[in-house]
Amino acid sequence: HLTVLRNVADLRAQVAAWRGAGQTVALVPTMGALHDGHLALVRRGRELADHVIASVFVNPTQFAPHEDFDRYPRDEAGDAAKLASAGCAALYAPTVRGMYPDGFATAISVGGPSEGLCGSFRPQMFGGVAIVVTKLFLQALPDVAVFGEKDYQQLMVIRRFTRDLDIPVRVEGLPTVREADGLALSSRNAYLSPDERARAPELNRALTVAAAALTAGAELDGVLTAVRGRIAEAGFGAIDYVELRDGETLAPITRVERPARLLVAAWLGKARLIDNVPVQPA
Ligand code: PAJ
Repeated sequence: HLTVLRNVADLRAQVAAWRGAGQTVALVPTMGALHDGHLALVRRGRELADHVIASVFVNPTQFAPHEDFDRYPRDEAGDAAKLASAGCAALYAPTVRGMYPDGFATAISVGGPSEGLCGSFRPQMFGGVAIVVTKLFLQALPDVAVFGEKDYQQLMVIRRFTRDLDIPVRVEGLPTVREADGLALSSRNAYLSPDERARAPELNRALTVAAAALTAGAELDGVLTAVRGRIAEAGFGAIDYVELRDGETLAPITRVERPARLLVAAWLGKARLIDNVPVQPA
């Protein structure tokens, strides 16, 4: 049985009822069009708390005017059925007006891990993510919230502002859930034609080979050039970035002396695909 909540008052009443019974709560924020990656977060939430609330809200403030807010896939009935089967207790689906009433005038600006990578190509995104995730945290006040490493920079940004603003929510990360051929599950994979879908796994293959080369001591510039070459060869268009960063601070690095992350964003047809892999020191 899945309870559907559409405003803050109902959300808080549900959480208060559980807390009154001495039970804990996990929150899984999403934008819907749910796939097995999202459901893995729900299952992790069930391990971490007595009840899981998933939010489904396509957040307008994290999209630029030219981006895909209007055509972002939406399927609330399908999402509700998947959440129920994954053991989610409640679906929180607020309205845009409910989240951003007339006169809304507050912004949160995060430096540090927001800088570079997707922050350079989608300058509005992390401010939008910060404001909506902060609102969701303060609305639900869960014990723990679960996010995917698929959006690794987003996870690091959320960890940063949660700590900086003393928000009393534990932020938990989960490794990327992938198709058998390595493609990271994503709601935006729906934009791929069959031909593009067949080419898409090369993104992860290129990263995996590169990560092994870096651990084995290969020099960074050559490795990054090889990744760009492989991706272009596979039929990708513009490559927004391929970069090596520190695994915790996301600071740019040139040598792997501590756990690091190799991150990429590239266009395949109308889809902008992102992926990242861990890089271990030797
Ligand atoms: P969305 O893209 O719907 O993703 C919701 C959560 O699912 C994020 O934590 C994301 O990292 C995780 N996720 C997506 N694909 C995954 C995969 N293949 N494996 C593991 N986890 C995966 O990210 C957002 O929504 C929004 O920016 C949001 C945080 C909800 C704020 O609006």
